[in-house]
Amino acid sequence: MDKKIDQIKKEIKSFHIKTYNDLEAFRIKFLGKKKGMLIVLFKEFKKISIYKRKIYGKIINELKKEAQNKINVFHLKNDIKNEKLLKVDPTIPGQSIEIGGRHPLSIIKNRIIDIFIKIGFTYVDGPEIEDDWHNFTALNIPIFHPSRDMQDTFFLCKNPDVLLRTHTSSVQIRYMKKHIPPFRVLSTGKVYRNETISSRSNFMFHQAEGFYIDKKVSFSDLKQTIHYLITSLFGEAKIRFRPSYFPFTEPSAEVDIYCNSEWVEIMGCGMIDPQVLKNVNIDSEIYSGFAFGLGIERLALIIYKIKDIRIYFDNDIRFLKQFKSEF
Ligand code: PHE
Repeated sequence: MDKKIDQIKKEIKSFHIKTYNDLEAFRIKFLGKKKGMLIVLFKEFKKISIYKRKIYGKIINELKKEAQNKINVFHLKNDIKNEKLLKVDPTIPGQSIEIGGRHPLSIIKNRIIDIFIKIGFTYVDGPEIEDDWHNFTALNIPIFHPSRDMQDTFFLCKNPDVLLRTHTSSVQIRYMKKHIPPFRVLSTGKVYRNETISSRSNFMFHQAEGFYIDKKVSFSDLKQTIHYLITSLFGEAKIRFRPSYFPFTEPSAEVDIYCNSEWVEIMGCGMIDPQVLKNVNIDSEIYSGFAFGLGIERLALIIYKIKDIRIYFDNDIRFLKQFKSEF
């Protein structure tokens, strides 16, 4: 046995593998499944005593490794050439990947989020598919009340309780039901209305909604917060609060911004109506709060001096390429 092992060892070492044919010959000679020298050795080894088997088992396994190693080394040296890798010219510059940009609405949305995060607002998401209670009833807009006409939307024929939210104010209800004040919250997202598409309106647009509830929150907190938002977005800008009506805020106002010699409405806001707080089990004797909702398309129109709202959704790369931002 010892002699045989020595013999095989020598043969493995001295075998010159120069071509793939040599390699195959080498493999068959030593590692071949049927008559390979090492396999034959293994078979013989079964006949010897258990005590010796341990010792020889190790030695034969070492030999097997040596043979396999030789094969691996050949592959390492030669396969690269065959794969034509060396024919590749590594000095040719690679194909560059074009980096996309953010959609202008995303840029403005992210700026607004950033502005509010800085003053301690929490960002939350809400569902676009809503039920009647969260979108209307809990916000003090009862069934058959004429104020529903302000926000006509899309209902499921089969189940009129399911609808596409008309505003992000539904997020107020969802959040207030689950949390104990004080809290400051911002939410953004798509909202839907049954409106004729024109340069100023669409059946879908984006809103940002903010609300703040604590003890002694007042209208001046609301004014100051809106002022902070507008100056963060525009630098100095002229704004005005115009008395208005929303069923879920009292008092209510609309905020206009002066641009291109005219006043443009950008958001609705007000103090959250005590009835809304009651609907979500918040004690309106202890807590008060404000809320606001703004249209992101409108703001982006002003910031980027765009004239027609429809261009946001045309997916025209020439338009979209013009926007660069760190947001
Ligand atoms: N939800 C209102 C709208 O879509 C805006 C609003 C939000 C008004 C919060 C007051 C308070 O028109």
